[in-house]
Parts: sequence; C-alpha cells; structure tokens
Amino acid sequence: MKREQWNSQFGFLLAAVGSAIGLGNIWRFSYMAYSNGGGAFLIPYIIALLTAGVSLLLLEFAIGHERIGSAPLAFARINKKWEWLGWWSVIFVMFGIELYYNVIIAWCINFFFYSFDLSWGSDPNTFFFKEFLQLNTDPANIGNIRTPILGSLIIVWFLNWIIVFRGIRKGIELANKIFMPMLFLLTAVLVLWAVNLEGASDGIRAYLTPDFSKLSEPKVWIDAFSQIFFTLSLGFGIMIAYASYLPSKANITKYAVLTAFINSGYSIFAGFAVFSVLGFMAASQGKPMADVVTKSIGLAFVAYPQAVSLMPGGNIFGAIFFLSLVIAGLSSSISIIEAFTSAVVDKFNVNRKHLVTLICVTGFLGSIIFITQAGLIWLDIVDHFLTHYALVIVGIGECLIVGWFFRTETLRKHINKISSIKIGVWWDYLIKVFVPLVLGVILIGDLYIELKNPYEGYSWTALILIGWNWLLLTLVAAFFMAMQPWKDDSHKASGRTEH
Ligand code: ALA
Repeated sequence: MKREQWNSQFGFLLAAVGSAIGLGNIWRFSYMAYSNGGGAFLIPYIIALLTAGVSLLLLEFAIGHERIGSAPLAFARINKKWEWLGWWSVIFVMFGIELYYNVIIAWCINFFFYSFDLSWGSDPNTFFFKEFLQLNTDPANIGNIRTPILGSLIIVWFLNWIIVFRGIRKGIELANKIFMPMLFLLTAVLVLWAVNLEGASDGIRAYLTPDFSKLSEPKVWIDAFSQIFFTLSLGFGIMIAYASYLPSKANITKYAVLTAFINSGYSIFAGFAVFSVLGFMAASQGKPMADVVTKSIGLAFVAYPQAVSLMPGGNIFGAIFFLSLVIAGLSSSISIIEAFTSAVVDKFNVNRKHLVTLICVTGFLGSIIFITQAGLIWLDIVDHFLTHYALVIVGIGECLIVGWFFRTETLRKHINKISSIKIGVWWDYLIKVFVPLVLGVILIGDLYIELKNPYEGYSWTALILIGWNWLLLTLVAAFFMAMQPWKDDSHKASGRTEH
C-alpha cells in the first residue's frame, strides 16, 4: 500500500507546529517562567531548546523520514529488538496523555460557554473545584460522572474523530491550515488587549525581570528541559510519524528549526497576555503579584475567570481565551491519535477508517475516569508519571538506540543530502552523549525527589496503583504488540539509505 503524503511541505510544517503548540504553551510555560526566575528562565529555556530540543526534534524527523515509518516500524527497521520502544511511546501517549488532555480541552469548551454570562460568579475558585468538578480528594472515591463535562467530552472526541478519520491531507493537514492562522490571530487579539490593561506593565515586569540567582538551582534547569521536551511533543512518536509522510526530498533541518522557533516564540508571546492579565488583576484587587499567580490549572480555570470578571468586556476576552485553548489543544490531540493510528496500520495493515473509529470510541471510554469526581486527582497523578518518566525514558532510548546501536552518521548524511541547512558532527555528540546524559540526570533527580516525598502528598497506594501501574501496564502492552507477527516483511527493509 502506498504511504499517504502531505499535500505540501508547508502543510507538514503547520501540522508539526500544531502538534507542538498545545495546552502546555499557554499556561504551563508562563507559570514555569514566573516561578523559575522570570526573564532569567529564558536562559536555561533557550539553552535547552538549542541543545536538546532542536537536536531531538531533528532526530525524530530524521528517523521517521529515513526509515519511512511510524515509531514502531521505524525502530523495527533499525533492529527488531527495539520495536517495543516505539510501541510504548505511542501506547502511553494515546492511552494516557491523550485521555486526560482531551478532558482539559472539554473543560475549556465548558468555560468558553461560561464566559458569556460569567457563570463562575464572584468566587471562581469555589466554582471550579466545588461546583464544576465537585472534587473528591480521595482517588478511590470516584463518585459520579460530571454530566456537564461529559457533553463537552463527547464533542471533543467527535472533533478528533472526524479530523483523523479524513486522513492526512483532507483531515490533519486541512484542520491545521484552518486552526493555526486562527490561533495566531486570536492570540494576537488577546495580547494586544491584555497589554493595554491597567497594571499590565507590573505583570510583564514580573514575567520578564531576570532573577539570576535562580540559575544556580538545579530545579530551574530540570524544569526548562522538561518544558522543552513536552512542548515540542518529543518522545510522543508524533514527529516520527509526521515526517514519514514527507516526500523523499524534504528540507528536514529547516522544518525542525522552524517548528522549534515558532513554538517557543508562540509561548513567549502568549506569556505577555497571561502576565498582563495577572498584573491587571493584582492592580484591581490591590494585591501583590505573588498572590495572584497560581499553579498551571488554577491559572487557567481560576485566576483567569477572576480577571475576566473584573475586565470591561471581559466575557468576550474570556471566550477568546478559552477558544484559543480549545484550538491549540485539538491540533495537538489529533497528532497523538495519528501517531498511534499510523503505528497500527503500519504493522497490521488494517482499515484506517475503522481503526480510527475504534480508537476514538475506546479513548472516549478511557477518558471517563478523568471526568468523575476524583478525575482531577487521577489526571494529576497520571500526568506526573507519564511526563516525568515515560517521555524522558523514551527520549533517552531514542538517543541511545540511534547513537550506539545504529549510526547517527547515517541519519546525518541523509539529512544533509536533502536539507538546505547542513549539520555537523557536533550533532552526533549531542545525540550520543549530551542529550541522554542531561535527560538521565533529570530522570534521576526526579526519581530522588519522588522517593523522598510522595508526589503532592498522595498516598503511596494511590501513586503505585495509578501512576506506577500506568507505566507498567502500557509497557506490558508495548511488548505484547511488539511480539505480534507483522502483516508482511516490510519491517525487514531498511530505510532510504543502506547502512
Ligand atoms: N506539545 C503539546 C503541548 O505543549 C503536547 O501541549
């Protein structure tokens, strides 16, 4: 069967940017910057981007393009014994990250509608936790399904389904061609509006004033590297699959550099809106900035609604903000479904349309646990384990496999043959030594903190049963998939170059 291809390389770029820009860019980045030294955070952030970020993105593009396959096929074409790593990434991302990611998009749909009449009233905190989520703090006590979220969750999965169902060109590429310009426009409106609010300059100052003393804290560096990792969708198997749909001549290096810079530029730009609004809120309430900045989820669903209520015309501002989150989120969530779909089609040659339907129905059912009354706790635990461990392990695995069991030189020569920007031997060293070393340090650092203090003070039982088990079960599923026979001998072929 002929592999589907993008209509144009620009379409591929938009899809890669769409995958990278997601929920994480809007509030996760801003909060990280603020809590890690403001403007000074940009130093480790940019270093992480230029060293690990761009080189890993390049690696994923190169693997997918040179080996012509989704993550499992690409790794199997390097060596059959590494196929499981490709499976693991697409499985835990699809049946882990994607399940709660879509729930957050669903909340944004609810909040989009709530914006019009400021349904959260005068106390958005109580509204979000007590009325909207009706949160139970014990993860074992899941209570009921929250019906208002169920409705929007159905919409989110339906949109995902319809886009991915239509395939690469008519679905994913077309959706991103609509989504990306719309997102940039809406974000520009938000930024222009926000920077003109009273008190905005205090917010921007808090966002950008560098506190260089923070640079000596290892946590700041760990946060910068993990943020780059998550935001560029590295270790998700997405960029490998997306690059496999490129024609044999494709300017890979240029697209890796552009994707990385557009994504980070967007984060930094959106940060101006986030912080101007916080500055405005601090000024209107006569409070110091430190009192109005809260952690990621609180920032979007508590602090923002509060600010929106205080702002003239705030309901429109709120609606635009939540709509932007929905668009940014959807363009990432479709890429996750595609990474898994292409893996299964590559291996078993099943009917793509039936498969996408089955994946979306199963995904929807799997999401339901996250819309129960203990949903937020489950979300928090699963997110912590998958983003801190699974993604990082996959990143290390990719570098080691290509660096030590395959040849970075093969990929580098392949990239250089077709790209306008040539890369040197330094890239081999980054992939072989630097990136795995840095990620290894992050992993050990995280594990050390984990074992010293149970995450967020949750019980060990909850952390083991939900968090560790999620890692383990998806790993078992990955080995199971890797053991299944291939539909034909396609995985025995090598890539575009012999080695
Ligand atoms: N890269 C996507 C995000 O930042 C997953 O949300």
